[in-house]
Amino acid sequence: MQISPSILSADFANLERELDRISNADWAHVDVMDGHFVPNLTLGLPVVEALQKVSPIPLDCHLMIDDPDRWAPSYAEAGAKSVTFHIEAAKNPVALARSLRAAGARAAMALKPKTEFAPYEDLLPELDMVLVMTVEPGFGGQSFMADQMPKVRQVRDAVQRHGGEIWVQVDGGVSAKTIEQCAEAGADVFVAGSAVYGADDAANAIGELRELASQ
Ligand code: DX5
Ligand code: ZN
Repeated sequence: MQISPSILSADFANLERELDRISNADWAHVDVMDGHFVPNLTLGLPVVEALQKVSPIPLDCHLMIDDPDRWAPSYAEAGAKSVTFHIEAAKNPVALARSLRAAGARAAMALKPKTEFAPYEDLLPELDMVLVMTVEPGFGGQSFMADQMPKVRQVRDAVQRHGGEIWVQVDGGVSAKTIEQCAEAGADVFVAGSAVYGADDAANAIGELRELASQ
């Protein structure tokens, strides 16, 4: 069970210090938004390169951008250990996943809430993780969509059939109230933004989430 706090809810004026607050996390989740694929704009490659230099934690880059085929490999080359592209935006997901792996990153595919998993199941051999969004991507602090749990289960079952080490990540509205149902449905990597950075003691919140997910 791994916890990947989203720095979207961190203080953007003090990102290095904000990474120190989550030193017991497995990953730091970095939400890249381009104002096109989603109606919000956050940060891009220069900031990821700067974070990579100071982060003691591996970066888990979630790219909510158009044309990931063109842009995603640069994030892997910058040193991100996991790079997630949205299948809704990818033109050639097989080639894209291969180029991410060739650059030394884990390759991951994300599904928006309305996107079915079944049409993409045959991509599993190219992937190291599938991200099932539990909110519409774009903003932190939204309500968890419990209706995505059957999809998490479906992905977990497919991963089990396929074998190999493919992780199942959930992202959006994950908190102490909702993490157990995600784990029960088969998720094993949990992104949490407001639930971690909104807490006075972020490290403590991470410990609590990990414990709840592991029960
Ligand atoms: C939403 C982002 C999430 C977001 C999660 O588009 O992908 O990573 O930061 O924030 P919370 O945990 O507050 O829902
Ligand atoms: Zn995210």
